[in-house]
Amino acid sequence: MTGKIIDGKAFAERLKSDTAKQVSILKEKYSITPGLAVIIVGEDPASQVYVRNKNKSTKAAGMNSFEHRLDDNISQNELLDLIEKLNHDPAVHGILCQLPLPKDLDENAIINAISPAKDVDGFHVINSGLLATGGKGMVPCTPLGCIKMLRAELGSLCGKDAVVVGRSNIVGKPMAQLLLDEDCTVTIAHRHTKDLASVVRNADILVVAVGVPELVKGSWIKKGATVIDVGINRIKKKTPAGEKQKYRLTGDVEFKEALKNAAAITPVPGGVGPMTIGVLLQNTVTAACRQHNVAEPKI
Ligand code: GUN
Repeated sequence: MTGKIIDGKAFAERLKSDTAKQVSILKEKYSITPGLAVIIVGEDPASQVYVRNKNKSTKAAGMNSFEHRLDDNISQNELLDLIEKLNHDPAVHGILCQLPLPKDLDENAIINAISPAKDVDGFHVINSGLLATGGKGMVPCTPLGCIKMLRAELGSLCGKDAVVVGRSNIVGKPMAQLLLDEDCTVTIAHRHTKDLASVVRNADILVVAVGVPELVKGSWIKKGATVIDVGINRIKKKTPAGEKQKYRLTGDVEFKEALKNAAAITPVPGGVGPMTIGVLLQNTVTAACRQHNVAEPKI
């Protein structure tokens, strides 16, 4: 028996369509058009693709999209000035600064300059503090999307053994927190974990976010586990001399082999990636409603 492939793309489409309905209600009932400002510094090709997709999806949902493309030699103060302007702009309900930033910029200082109410990434220390203490802040998009998929797949997550491989501020740590909030028993593994295979073997729910192609072997997956692969790794394909270099995308989990043991698994591409943008749009609607003190339309 092979596992089910979780269709993240279809999931994201439903989220986006629900968000578009919420936006049209907000426009009709309160004359509110949620607005998302996206800042991108430099020319990193992967970031350019993400930002283009975010812009397209924001507009498709009926929201305002404000794009700020900045040169990679922009100073810390110039970027902080832009954020301050956006913090005070009533048409902007969400602000996202695409990461990574060029090395000369202080990423933490920039993230923490964004108003917590407009921090639709949920990366501000106030929002991570609220997440850690059960408060009502903005929740990081990728982990929240993973939880939505897990709930759709499994219903209650109560009492499950969950393993998160990776401890980044963007995915690993908030993911572990959200799983804990779902009453899972949570283990976080990382590069210094002594025996990763044996930790993974215990997981009813496995979330991997390390950016190492196929680090997690299919044989490590417990029979019947649900696997969420957050990694998106670009691997060079064998290309004949003189031809343009081709790439394939792969996750952090050996997909084909994992399918033999897992009950369900997200593919790469088409799994977690599309969900992140869907949740970003939802977070922007949430932020707009909170800033205008109106209830979020129920769909
Ligand atoms: N770079 C990679 N993922 C993300 C994300 O979710 N938000 C931001 N701002 N930058 C990223």
